[in-house]
Amino acid sequence: MLSPHLLGVAGFPVGHSRSPVMHAAALRELRLPWRYLKLPLPPELFAEAARALPAAGYVGVNVTVPHKLAALRLADHSTPTAKAIGAANTLTFTEAGIEADNTDAPGLIGALGESPSGRRALVLGAGGAGRAAAWALREAGAEVSVWNRTPERGRDLAAELGIGYAERAAGVPDLVVNATSVGLDPDISEQRVLEALGLRVREPPAALVDLVYGERETALTAWARRGGSAVVDGLEVLVHQGALSLERWTGRGPPLAAMRAAAAHGGLDIR
Ligand code: ATR
Repeated sequence: MLSPHLLGVAGFPVGHSRSPVMHAAALRELRLPWRYLKLPLPPELFAEAARALPAAGYVGVNVTVPHKLAALRLADHSTPTAKAIGAANTLTFTEAGIEADNTDAPGLIGALGESPSGRRALVLGAGGAGRAAAWALREAGAEVSVWNRTPERGRDLAAELGIGYAERAAGVPDLVVNATSVGLDPDISEQRVLEALGLRVREPPAALVDLVYGERETALTAWARRGGSAVVDGLEVLVHQGALSLERWTGRGPPLAAMRAAAAHGGLDIR
């Protein structure tokens, strides 16, 4: 009997993830008889379960909240990107053991569609997502500042990455990346979002990325679009990070258009 080729996304919760529908479309397009499954793993079971996955036929898994730090810790080998960010979103099971990578960072740069080199970028949020975004933009040559609701956390990240810490009204960035969870509530008003992110008195930037995605356009992207910003939504970033993971597992060029179409029609709401 052929051994199964399984992929999946490990998170807790993971019911909302659009990755399964997106990867299923990609596997169909590539004519690979593989399956991509949801793996709802509570934190106390994550490491043990992840180590058991290769024997169950898994080639690799995506890892999402809250397991990205644990994924890096349990791996036998890690890419320089995953090490530098301190988190992994992609595990690959090989003869040489478990390999950890982070495709969130190159996924963000891919989703931008053009190099941010020389641009002034402001990252809102200093959690895991903010950390990956700030690192990716700095590596790509942008002049990066970070802002965070809890300033100490933002200042610590700024010091660690050698980037600026932005006070609320400081400077006019070319690019703003929302890497906070503000906007995950689909009913939040535009006013509340702008207030929470310190953007209320700002003109929309030339370009805006919102890592939050939902059933409808987020309040933040609606504001930016209305003001003439070039907008990249969270789904586009999801598509690019997923495509890079899939390429790693299959060695095949990922079908971006099929992945984008499937992700847009899936049913959930978190980056
Ligand atoms: P993730 O790994 O997805 O980034 P996280 O580490 O929990 O998740 O980070 C969530 C981010 O959203 C943080 O930057 C958080 O700010 P704090 O460090 O001050 O908690 C930010 N965030 C969450 N709710 C917020 C709100 N209502 N207003 C502004 N920022 C908020």
